[in-house]
Parts: sequence; C-alpha cells; structure tokens
Amino acid sequence: MKQYLKHDPWLIVEEDFHRNYNEITESVMSLGNGRMGQRGNFEEHFSGKTLQGNYIAGVYYPDKTRVGWWKNGYPDYFAKVLNAANWIGIDITIEYESLDLNTCEVRDFRRVLNMREGYLERSFVAVLKSGKELQVNTKRFCSIVDDEAGAIRYSLTPLNFDAKITVEPYIDGNIRNRDSNYDETFWDEVRKETAYGEGYIELRTRKTGFHVCSGMCVEIEQNGVRVDFQSQPIRREKYVANRMTLDCQQGQETVIYKYAVNLSSLNHDPDFMVGEAHKSIQRITRKGFDRMLLDQQQAWADKWKTNDITIEGDAAAQQGIRFCIFQLNQTYTGEDERLNIGPKGFTGEKYGGSTYWDTEAYCLPFYLSTADQKVSRNLLRYRYKHLEKAIENARKLGFKAGAALYPMVTMNGEECHNEWEITFEEIHRNGAIAYAIYDYIRYTGDENYLVEYGLEVLIAISRFWSQRVNWSEAKQQYVMLGVTGPNEYENNVNNNWYTNYLATWTLRYTIEAVGRVKELNHEKFNELCDRIHFREEKEIATARHIVDHMYFPYDETRQVFLQQESFLDKELMTVNEIPKGQRPLNQHWSWDRILRSCFIKQADVLQGIYFFEDDFDENTIRRNFDFYEPMTVHESSLSPCVHSVLASKLGMKDKAYEMYLRTARLDLDDYNNDTEDGCHITSMAGSWLAVVKGFGGMRIRNDQVVLNPYCPDNWESLAFKIRFRGALLEVKVTQTDVTVQNFSGKPVEILLFNETVSVAPNSKSRIEKTAEVD
Ligand code: BGC
Repeated sequence: MKQYLKHDPWLIVEEDFHRNYNEITESVMSLGNGRMGQRGNFEEHFSGKTLQGNYIAGVYYPDKTRVGWWKNGYPDYFAKVLNAANWIGIDITIEYESLDLNTCEVRDFRRVLNMREGYLERSFVAVLKSGKELQVNTKRFCSIVDDEAGAIRYSLTPLNFDAKITVEPYIDGNIRNRDSNYDETFWDEVRKETAYGEGYIELRTRKTGFHVCSGMCVEIEQNGVRVDFQSQPIRREKYVANRMTLDCQQGQETVIYKYAVNLSSLNHDPDFMVGEAHKSIQRITRKGFDRMLLDQQQAWADKWKTNDITIEGDAAAQQGIRFCIFQLNQTYTGEDERLNIGPKGFTGEKYGGSTYWDTEAYCLPFYLSTADQKVSRNLLRYRYKHLEKAIENARKLGFKAGAALYPMVTMNGEECHNEWEITFEEIHRNGAIAYAIYDYIRYTGDENYLVEYGLEVLIAISRFWSQRVNWSEAKQQYVMLGVTGPNEYENNVNNNWYTNYLATWTLRYTIEAVGRVKELNHEKFNELCDRIHFREEKEIATARHIVDHMYFPYDETRQVFLQQESFLDKELMTVNEIPKGQRPLNQHWSWDRILRSCFIKQADVLQGIYFFEDDFDENTIRRNFDFYEPMTVHESSLSPCVHSVLASKLGMKDKAYEMYLRTARLDLDDYNNDTEDGCHITSMAGSWLAVVKGFGGMRIRNDQVVLNPYCPDNWESLAFKIRFRGALLEVKVTQTDVTVQNFSGKPVEILLFNETVSVAPNSKSRIEKTAEVD
C-alpha cells in the first residue's frame, strides 16, 4: 500500500513530486469524457518514468496473437485500444535548457485532480541547472460538453531572470502501445497541415483502418493581454508543431492556451476530417478557455446532482467513492451504443480497453441507478448486436444449433483472449450476460426489451449451457467439466459451483422468459421461433431436465457449497498464514503453487450467493462467507466489493467497512501494487455497490425499491442518490435515522425496513431507525 496522496473530499492531491510513483499518479489523475481520455501526463518533456497515454474510444488494433504453443480455437488477435497521438505536448526551452522535471530541482510541486469540476492542475517551481527559477501553473481538461475537445492553460513566470523562452506546442503521432505483442507501430500518417499557431495531423490505424485527426490551435497571453507571436511551423513524420520564441521578463506571466480536438472515423468521414477538425478548432478557440471551463464545471455539477455519494466523518472513505464515481463517468457516458467499459478505461493499456464480463456483473447496476435508462439499455444492446459473433464463436469451439458463447474479451464481438484456461474455460461470462438482462428488466420494468432482444440472447446462451453440460452415469446427474470459475487461481476444474448455478439459473430464467414473451406478444414470439429455429417443446424439456438434475458440489460436514468438486482435497489454510511479504501472490509465487493452493483470487461461490441471495437463507450465506472469506486474497479488483455487500447483509460491519475501503481506495492507495498499469475502472462500480447495496441495503423487489440502510460506526452520515423509474431519490442515513427525499413530481412508495413508506412528490420522509447490525 502507498499512502502519498492527500485525503480531501473533492480533490486528489499529490504534494511534492513523487518521481518514483509517477506512473501511479498518472493513472490516478487520468482525464476522460467517454469519447477520449488520457493519463495524467505532463505537458512538457519528461525524461523520467512515465507512460504517455492518450486513447480514443472504439479505436483499436487487432494485435497478432502471441503464444508459446498454439491451440486450435485460439483467436488470431488480441484487440487493443490504441495509444493515440499525444495532443497535450508543449516543450519548453529556456535559452539552451529544456524544462524537464526529471533533471531539474522541483519546488512547491502540487498536482491536483479536481473531481468536482473535472480538470487537472499542476503548479511547481523548477530550478534549472543554471539557477534560473521558473514558476509553472497548468490546467487542462477533456471537455464533457464537447467530447472531441480538450483545452490546456499553461503558464510560465520567470522568478529570477529575463530570458527568451522557446515554446513548442505539438501533436505527436509517433507513439507505441507499451503492451504491443511485436513492438510494432500501429499508425500510418495520412496527412498533416500547419498554419499560424495551428497544426493538424490525420493518422490511420493499420489493419482496422480507423482514421483519427488531431488538431490544435495556440494562443499566447502576456500579463493578461493577448499577444501576436512569430511562429515557426514544424512538420516531421507524424508530427506537427509550432515553435515560438517569447521574450519573458522576470515576474511577468506568459500563458499558452492550447486548444485541441480529436475526431475519429467512427463519427466523421475521413475525406472531410481535417476540414471538420479545423471547424471544431475554430469553434472552441472562439469560445475560449474560460468559457469552456465554466461549461465543464456546470456539466460536472449537473452530473454530481444525480450521482454523488456523501460521507460525513471519514475523509478517506469520501474521497474513495467520489473518485470511483468520477472515473466511471469519465469512462462511459452511454451516448454511443458501439462503446463499452474497458477494465482500465482511458487510464492505461492493460486489458486492451476491451469489454469483459465486468460490464454486466459490476457496472450495469451503477448505470441503472445513476444514469438515464437508455444508458443501460445501450449496454445491453451492445451484446445483442454481438450475438451473431457469439454464435460463431461457439460454433468454432464445436457447439451447434445457434448456441452462443460470448467472448471473455472483445472489442467487436469476436473473442480475442488467448489463454486456453480463460478463452475456452472461463465460460461463466456467458451467464453474466443473461443475468444483466434480468437485472435490467427487474430495475426498469422494461419488458419490451425482453420481447425485442432479450429472449433471443437468452435462448442462444441457454443452448450453449444445454450442450456444455453432460450426463454423468456415475452421478446420475448433469455435470460441467473443465471450467475456470471467477477464481482464476484454479483452472480446468470440474463442477465449479458458481458456473453450474449460473447455467441452471439461466435455463430457468429462459423458460420463464419464453412464457412471458408469449403472453406479451405472441406474434413476435412466433416470428422469433421461425427466425432462430427454436423448437420450443424440445428445447424447454431439455432445459428442464438439466435444471432438475444438475450436480452441485457440497460439503455435508461444513454445510457449504464447494467451489469445485475437488476443493476439499486442497490444504485448507487462511490468508493470515501466508508469510509476510509474499502478497500479492501473483507477484511472488509460481503459477503452479498458486493453482494448487486453496487461496482464492476473487469471489466465486460468494459471487453466486451475491447474485442470487434470495435463493439462500441467512445461515447458509453466513456459513459460506465464513468458510471462503478467510481464504480470499482479493487479488482481483472485483472481489472486495462483493465481500463488502455480503458482510453488510450479514451484519459484519467491520468486515464490510474494511472491504469497502479496499475497493474504493484500491487505486488511490495502490493496494494491489499495480495501479501504474492503469486504474481499475470496472471495480469502481463495485465500490458503488458496496455503498448502495451494502451499507444502503438497496434492492429492487417486486417493482419496488427496498432499503435496509445503516451508517458505518465511524461515519456521521451517508447519503446516496438513485434514479428509479423516472424518480430521483436521495437516501440519507445517520447513526439514528434515515431520511428519504423524493426529488420528482410523483409519489414514490418504497419498502424501508420491511415497511411501506410513501414519499410525496418533492418532499422527505424521515424514520428514526437504522438497520439492526451489530
Ligand atoms: C479478473 C477477471 C476480470 C478481469 C478484468 C481479472 O483479473 O480475474 O474476472 O474480468 O480481471 O477486470
């Protein structure tokens, strides 16, 4: 763990330059607007440890697969969101010395991510080798109002000298992905242009042929007055810049405004892109930095109105959850149904920016409760549009008759993950996609989705499960062999309880959904049956037989579900017994040792109990929690949140709180020693779950919001907002009471501590009670 960032409710603050942690800070201080994003890099040249990162949503490259031993069925490529042109660069030279925080002395350094208003700022005094002292203040943002635009205010004040300072704002397309398999470059130059203070460069991705045009325009102010400058255009391969030399006097502030846009062929015709970029640049330059920033602040204020969670009395906890909500909003806005949520968002390259089961299992509930319904519908539609590919993917592996296996990792519907134990075996991801349909309809009541798209996906996934199980003569039950559950610290296991449960649940839900769609729209149902050759009677009979005869490994002595059939053959130990200094295990132990150990990377049986908690009584949940939690190392970011929600349900306040901090501050405190690769964006939705479903005890049952909230002991209060079917509610919990405020114009009935409470339009209801949790 590293605790060098200051606690603050709205800011992430680095004081003093932590050079060795720079890549961690760059991840944490990332900016984004759903369409593009970037790491918290410096504008000026930096020769120290850095991962320069700019990413454009949906612009990816199929990097040829690299494996030691090829297996039939492996995908040909791993899709990567590409590191795109660096548009923030501004090189500074003071006479003959380059400004580089790695080589000069740095005083009064402060780098701040302002989450309330959506910008990044930095200030410092650089003491150059020559003794010259230069004060620098920077501010920049990716606009959430105009999502192709960004702006930078970069100010220089010589403190003890007069000099000519050369400033070179540039756009540089000579970039590589650090994680590229063959160290190739992925971009070709198409065209470039420069004009007075302006530069444009259009690049095209190899193989995928995406075009991205980045443009910039620079303005200079001295002592608050706009000045004309001599600018020397510079054009090199994949590089455009304007070089200008400015007379700077001691104590005089020179401000460089750099306006930039990034347009991609996802939204623009490549033939007209440079012209379009030019127009966009003119538009934002006319608007000006201050106006753009005001709009940004207003837009963030609007977002916080429906998204914020406030925690009084615990600065670390407050900062953690706001950071998560901020990053989630920076990553995905739901405005474009072609996009999704990469586990690292725009903060790093790991996981390639592709889509994982994380979206359905973790992120969907966040967007359901905090954004317009169309956002979560878009997330579901994304998978609907990939259905054909999922069927093809299953076909490649030998499945037939319209069975679908959704990919573990994808950018366009095709599987692109190539570790056999995951690609072929971690099939539980298929169930999460079915579960998301259920979750969405339960939350929104939008059964039309089931009729239009949902049932088709459910049938295809159910067909897969029906073919993936086999009848065991020995057990006289169905079994599922050779799988990897969510706990990737075990592979190729038989009868992973979670996967068997999810498969059976999907079959049951599909049977139910068939009945419901027939009731709602028989004609559509018939149409679907014809189109996908659904043999209702036969397929439903098969599904029922599996549901009634599935094998679930169970330990009678302890009365717990077994993660997999042979789990008890392992030497059972607790995490406390792992020698000091050997965690995270994946950075210290051989893979072989990990696989044979009982240690669990992430919630597995408990993931299933979390999804389907109403199927189990409290004692069952407790026994399983008590058995698995002490063996869980939480080396997947997706794990602590599930444990936190369950601990809250079981009244284990301390555990719930410990797990909450671990998930919400995972990146701020670098718990797993991997934040330098990027932030764990998808698990940030899990932090939200730990608050709203955990401490808030929020569920949706029978078309109603159900609440069982409590306030952790060391907090004065907790307040969260949720949208539910057209209403916006705020739930505020203190140590003694709960207040529910209805901001909408219609009455809302909720179930609070098992009693119906009506909250009139635009008013509050207060109850003197909190959940009974010891
Ligand atoms: C986890 C997976 C997850 C992936 C991306 C892995 O470490 O084990 O469950 O989908 O990270 O977040």
